[in-house]
Parts: sequence; structure tokens; C-alpha cells
Amino acid sequence: MCGIVGYTGPQSAVVPLIEGLRRLEYRGYDSAGIALGTPGTLFIEKRAGKLVNLEESFDESLPVVHSGIGHTRWATHGGPTDRNAHPHVDNEGKLAVIHNGIIENYSALKAELQSRGHTFKSETDTESVAHLLSDLRKEHKGDLTAAMRAAVKLLRGSFTLLAIHADAPDVIVGVRRNSPLVVGLGKGENFMASDVAAFIEYTKRAVELGQDEVVTITPQGILITDLEGKAVAPKEYEISWSAEAAQKGGFTHFMLKEIFEQPKAVADTLIGRLSDNNQIVLDEIRMSSAEIKDLKKILVIACGTAYHAGMIAKYAIEKWAKIPVEVEIASEFRYRDPIINKSTLVIAISQSGETMDTLMAIRHAKSAGARVLAICNTNSSTIPRESDAVLYTHAGPEIAVASTKAFLTQVIAVYLIGLHLAQVRGVMKDSQVAQLYYEMLELPGKIEQILETVEPLRTLTRSFAQSESVLFLGRNIGYPVALEGALKLKELAYMHAEGFAGGELKHGPIALIDKGTPVIAILPSSHEHALDEKMLSNIQEVKARGARVIVIAQESDEVVGAEHIIRIPRASAIFQPILATVPLQVFAYEMAICRGNDVDQPRNLAKSVTVE
Ligand code: AGP
Repeated sequence: MCGIVGYTGPQSAVVPLIEGLRRLEYRGYDSAGIALGTPGTLFIEKRAGKLVNLEESFDESLPVVHSGIGHTRWATHGGPTDRNAHPHVDNEGKLAVIHNGIIENYSALKAELQSRGHTFKSETDTESVAHLLSDLRKEHKGDLTAAMRAAVKLLRGSFTLLAIHADAPDVIVGVRRNSPLVVGLGKGENFMASDVAAFIEYTKRAVELGQDEVVTITPQGILITDLEGKAVAPKEYEISWSAEAAQKGGFTHFMLKEIFEQPKAVADTLIGRLSDNNQIVLDEIRMSSAEIKDLKKILVIACGTAYHAGMIAKYAIEKWAKIPVEVEIASEFRYRDPIINKSTLVIAISQSGETMDTLMAIRHAKSAGARVLAICNTNSSTIPRESDAVLYTHAGPEIAVASTKAFLTQVIAVYLIGLHLAQVRGVMKDSQVAQLYYEMLELPGKIEQILETVEPLRTLTRSFAQSESVLFLGRNIGYPVALEGALKLKELAYMHAEGFAGGELKHGPIALIDKGTPVIAILPSSHEHALDEKMLSNIQEVKARGARVIVIAQESDEVVGAEHIIRIPRASAIFQPILATVPLQVFAYEMAICRGNDVDQPRNLAKSVTVE
């Protein structure tokens, strides 16, 4: 995710641009930059780091002009450096572009543009668009809007783009595909932004844009067309949010917003990961086929929620790639003498990339000769920098301390790794891999379906608000889901919660069951090992001792003995964690609300635990 803003009107453009970027910094803060519409040649200033770094770079050379574009970045392609910061410009420095999203085919575009003599300065996918637009604008006799329409037809991926040219600096052109862009209508001034938070202080009149719609704004007005140049009537609406609510997209908490961002986060993490000939594309793990075939063991190291993603990795990688996988809590791993050698791949999972326990663990692993692959959501953070390779998730900034969308994208990342290893080692056919990949592509829509039933679940949760503790039962790949549900409840509702493997209940934990004890059971898919029957027995066992049972079950799976059933869409058992986790996130969120807790910043916790 990145924050983008455009302005054209009577104000000194730097003011609404910087104010807009400040309100969008939650969307990304790896770097910030602006392009101001100085006639003849644009004024560009950009800096790595937070917006304040950019503001501190301003001096008397900052021109007072009346149009421009601004960007605050969440890095995907290329680390958070000055050079990779947006805006990106063409070779003449007269056309600037800012971008939110992923241009899937940027490499091919870049090669073609380089062959035409364009020189590149950054590692980003966005810079290709600046050079492409520059050529197309010339082909369209200086018409930036026509150039944008032509460019979009050549781009693949999800993106929002804004562009400005020094020859007509009061004109700003934007377009969106699977990524947000909204227009703000002012008096003699107009705005564009990733969301209304950027301009809500100036106007509450907004226009939503549809897929592949190209919008051109000037101080006098706006023009929206489709890719064929046909005018589209603006769909204007009144913004009803406060400025603060707008930063949370109208949600009351960042956590709820991030729960609802999960479909897009999963989709973005999957984008472009299967080639035309059914090969999983994971070049960034930087392992040759020989090295992958030589692997004897995989060690997954992580903490907290990331550790639960690691447990799911074990099921997926052993099932598909037939490589033994051990999963280790980072803080425990580094105090034992692991059996590690060059045939061991260590996978370190970390949202922040700064968790000290995990960082110290990978240093320990590297000293023992292991290759380390990081799965991380924060570009160029410490853990990826100290690893041999990194697979970035595309969840965007996760502001709430309780991890939600980062967890789901970590699980998607381990699925992709498992399929890639299986394919390279020849233990799975390309057709099987492709079929599983296409099933994963359906997961965002299935998450959406679950989120459509979130209100009844929130009401149900409130009926358990006075409970002293909640137990979570899972079997097979549902066991890590039970642990994750318990962790969410602990960290948000400050209540005792514990996850168990269903089969372990009779070996002790069943003594915890008392009259009224809430038990949440994740029912295994009825397609696997008849494990659902064993879980249904567990449900009977706890119910017989007075438990109040909530069951999370796939649609059409038979359930007996539950007080409440939460239905989730059907999917292969291996993918069930992606779907079964979502109701547990909502359960914990609502319980925190019931208890009056600080949802986004729970007590005693930090988003990134940089101490051991
Ligand atoms: C999860 O909700 C917690 N915030 C916590 O367990 C977290 O997953 C853990 O601290 C690991 O953080 P990391 O992914 O940034 O390394």
C-alpha cells in the first residue's frame, strides 16, 4: 500500500500535498516525495524515511506553484531509498509519475524501454511507467490523458497512477485498476488521492472512480473517460466521515480495517506467482534447482502469530515437497545446538522484520552454516537484510499490534514456497501445482464471503463477554489455527485462552471444562482422514461436561452438538487456515470492544518486539 495525492488549484500546492501525505502516512512510510508543477521543468524532492525527512529537506528553492503530486511509500520492488522513492520521472525530467500497487510486467517493459534508449535510476516497477508515458505522450501529440489510456492497455497488475507534465503543469491525470483512487471536488481546485483522508479538510465532495477509468483534473473541473476515450459521468457523493475516521477508512479501529483488507492482501501476495507455463514464480528466494533438490531439512523460526504461520508451513511443505520441516520458537531455538548444515534451509517469518528473538535466531542459524530465507512484510528491515533471500508479503502496513492480514499473507507465502519446492524437486506435476494456485486465487473472494457475515458473529461474541476463559480446539492443520485464535483473544481481551490439539483434550485439558466454559472448535474438512468425526466426538465430550460450543465448519459439513455454528466457504483442507482464522480474529476484536480495551494498542504489547 502507498499513499498518493494530487492537487491543482489556487493554493501553494506543497501545502495540500504535504497535509494530504500526512493523513496517508498509515498507508506507508518508507519514503515520501513530491513533484511540483513548475512550468518547463518539474520540481522534484523525495527522501527515504518518514514524511518529516522530506519536509526537513525543503529550503528556499521550494517553488510556490499551484499543482503537483505527492507519494508516501510502502516499498515492494526496491528498498526504501531516496532513489527508489516516488515520484519517478522520464529522462527529460518533465514527466513525473507516482504509483500505488504492483506492475506485474514491469521487467519486460523496462527492457523494451531501455532498448529505446531510456536510462533508469531506480529498482522500482514504477519508473517503467514514467518512461512509457513519456514515449506515449509524444505519440499522442502531448496529450497526457491519451497517453495514460494507451499506457494502461500495456500494463498488467494492480495499480493507481498519477502523472503530471511540465508542459501543462495544472493538469493531473490519474487511473486505477484494483487499487483505490478518489477525486475531491473543491471550489476552483480539485484533488486526487488514495482515499478521502487526504483532502477531507478541504472538501467533502468526492467522486468514486471505476476500474480502468482515466481521470483528468484541472482547477476548472474534471473529466473521466474509459480506456477508449468515452466520457464517463462522475458518480459524486458527500463524504460523511471525520478526518480521523477517514484514516481508518471509516472503520473504528485499524485492526478492523486490516481484517477487511485481508482479501486484497492475499490477492496482492498471490499476484503474478504462476507463469504462463504453470511454473510457480519465486525468483527472489535465490536458490538454484540443484540447491533445492539438495535440501534435506527445513527449519522454520518465528515468534507469536508468525510462529503459527510456521506451523502451517510444516503441513504444507511436508505434504507437497516431501521435505522434513521443523518449526521452532525463535527465543528457544538459539539456546540449543541445532543440527544444521548447508542442506538446511532456515525460513524466518516476521511481519516487522525487526523482532529481536527472530533476528538473533537467524544469526545463530547462519553461524551454523544454514541458508536463511526471510518471509517479511516490511521492505529492507533488519531480518531480510541479514538473510540470504527474502520473500515479501504484500499486506501493506499493519498498524494494529494484533497481526491479522500479515498472518494470512505469511501463510500464503509458505504455500507458494511449498509448491515451488515440490515443483522443482519433481514431486508434484505442473498441473497439480497450477490447480492449487488457482484454488488459492479463489481465497480472497471466500474471505469476502466470511466478512459479509461479520455482524452476527460480533453479536454472538458479545454473549460470551463475561466468560473467564475460552478454549480453542483444532486438529491437523486446524491446530495452529486454534493456537492463533487463543493468542488473539489473550492479546486483545486480556483473558485466559488456550488452544489445544483436539486429540490432547483427554490427556489433561478436559479437566478445565466446567459448566458454561466456552469452547471454539475448528471442524476439519470432512474430506480429510475422517478427522471431522474425531472432532465431533471432542465436541460431545466437552458438551457433556457443560461447555458452550461454537463450531467453525465449512458449509455443508454436518455438525452435531454446537450451540452456534459459524459457516465458512468450502476449500481444500490445506487452505482452511486462511478461512477459519478470520472469524477468530473478529471474535477477539469484538471481545476487546466488549471489555473496553485499546484494540489497536493492547496493554503491555508493542507492534515490533525489538528486545529479547
Ligand atoms: C501477533 O498478533 C502479535 N502481535 C505477536 O505475536 C507477533 O506476531 C510477534 O511478536 C512476531 O512479530 P513479527 O511477525 O513482526 O516478527
